[in-house]
Amino acid sequence: FFSLNCVKIRTNIHAEKEELMNITIGSDHGAVDLKEEVKMVLHEFSDIQVTDVGTFGKESVDYPDIAEKVCADIVSGKADRGIVLCGTGIGISIAANKINGIRAALCTDVYSAIMSRKHNDANVLAMGGRVTGIGPAGEIVRAWIRTAFEGGRHARRVDKIMALEQKKDR
Ligand code: RB5
Repeated sequence: FFSLNCVKIRTNIHAEKEELMNITIGSDHGAVDLKEEVKMVLHEFSDIQVTDVGTFGKESVDYPDIAEKVCADIVSGKADRGIVLCGTGIGISIAANKINGIRAALCTDVYSAIMSRKHNDANVLAMGGRVTGIGPAGEIVRAWIRTAFEGGRHARRVDKIMALEQKKDR
């Protein structure tokens, strides 16, 4: 019994390792530095592939355009998840949540990041470059990447969130 269990566990770990996660990241001018730091954190994971859709300088850009680019990758299936950053994380998370299929969670702490995955199956993480420091942001990203959706009763609730999209134009 025990040896069979061990084999199963090992097989699962192997399977997880082989699966690549594609993450698209984007920020406005208010979080360009944080974006670079977050990319460094993502590079700690050998099974994560990162696509950066900009912006790449301090020149002012509009965060809804960045949200749209990141979320387009998720909607098309090119990315499994996304990370969006602006000065506060507020504008870009509001914009992202307007797009069908997106569940963006603005997180300023590790607990919220974990719960956004466990309970809300958040497929986009939002943070603010003028709010969250590099250290806490790194911990938030690590927790958010590692945490799986719990499903069960939370799946019913997430389904209801997604059903709201069908009622939008009524
Ligand atoms: C840009 O100045 C700023 O408004 C933006 O980065 C963000 O904080 C909006 O929510």
